[in-house]
Amino acid sequence: MEHSGNVTPVRVGVIGCADIAWRRALPALEAEPLTEVTAIASRQWDRAKRFTERFGGEPVEGYTALLERDDIDAVYVPLPAVLHAEWIDRALRAGKHVLAEKPLTTDRDQAEHLFKLAGERRLLLMENFMFLHHPQHRQVAAMLEEGAIGEVRSFAAGFTIPPKPQGDIRYQADVGGGALLDIGVYPIRAASLFLGMNLDVAGAVLRHERSLGVVVGGNALLTTERGVTAQLTFGMEHSYTNGYEFRGSTGRLWLNRVFTPPATYLPVVQIERQDHAEQIVLPADDQFAKSIRAFAQAVLDGEHPEDWSRDSLSQASLVDAVRANARNIYFS
Ligand SMILES: NC(=O)c1ccc[n+]([C@@H]2O[C@H](COP(=O)([O-])OP(=O)(O)OC[C@H]3O[C@@H](n4cnc5c(N)ncnc54)[C@H](OP(=O)(O)O)[C@@H]3O)[C@@H](O)[C@H]2O)c1
Repeated sequence: MEHSGNVTPVRVGVIGCADIAWRRALPALEAEPLTEVTAIASRQWDRAKRFTERFGGEPVEGYTALLERDDIDAVYVPLPAVLHAEWIDRALRAGKHVLAEKPLTTDRDQAEHLFKLAGERRLLLMENFMFLHHPQHRQVAAMLEEGAIGEVRSFAAGFTIPPKPQGDIRYQADVGGGALLDIGVYPIRAASLFLGMNLDVAGAVLRHERSLGVVVGGNALLTTERGVTAQLTFGMEHSYTNGYEFRGSTGRLWLNRVFTPPATYLPVVQIERQDHAEQIVLPADDQFAKSIRAFAQAVLDGEHPEDWSRDSLSQASLVDAVRANARNIYFS
């Protein structure tokens, strides 16, 4: 795809005029020199038109019509979680690389099927966990490695948000799938980022709002083979919080806003040891731009990083395991 020293950008089509596309992904796709917004599809043409007026590309009515176009190399899928598997499958069969919003699918079997399909067709499939692309986590891992709090004994992470407006996809079991799939996946992914993929579920509680028929919050306790635990909290019936914390043999280290830091946000690592407290301010970074760039670069390089698919599959297994081991509490 090289042209006299310049790179021909990946031509991207978007299916679904989602909030996350408007706020985060499309601004990053528009700004990224390695991508070009070629078309945006909606179930309603006027929604697609509103999006293309801001971000460029052609408005398209209907997702199938977008997949049939031959001027698109890759598709960004910000649909509600339950619809991901069907449309990722269709996009891959149409010969498009796929960047899909988290959670990639609602269970491990679907994820496995899609990675197999992508592999057979030599197409890239990436789950868009944007927070993984912020360098703050590598910097934290390095501090832990250097012994900032001694040996890590436990990890805790949380992502909670206030209730959404009525009708939000997160309240529709057959569309958005509820709080475990939409929000719980972040602390679960953070646990395996730091403690490794080989985690077992020691226990979990899922709170189901009976009239909505969805999980609105919950908690999971995971453990490594050596008994280093991850206590994970998530929900959409809370105040807004997101962060993680490590407790170690000689101290405690924690950060806030780990999942959604804006590009201008300066992460603050807080460390406490006996008779010692410090704050380390890390550089700001743009995880939204970095995630889009990583996808585009891999498409252009023809690379299908094995760790991306392996990690997404492990994540799907862990989410399945949390569901399977949970004590379900129903309330109204
Ligand atoms: N990576 C992140 O930081 C991040 C943040 C928030 C959300 N997300 C993920 O992104 C996805 C979308 O979340 P969102 O909050 O942006 O959702 P949203 O605003 O409700 O958008 C979902 C879009 O899907 C399309 N859609 C197709 N069938 C639908 C149906 N039956 N009901 C509702 N919408 C339908 C709609 O587009 P048209 O009407 O145009 O067809 C709608 O705009 C979810 O998987 C979510 O977990 C990721």
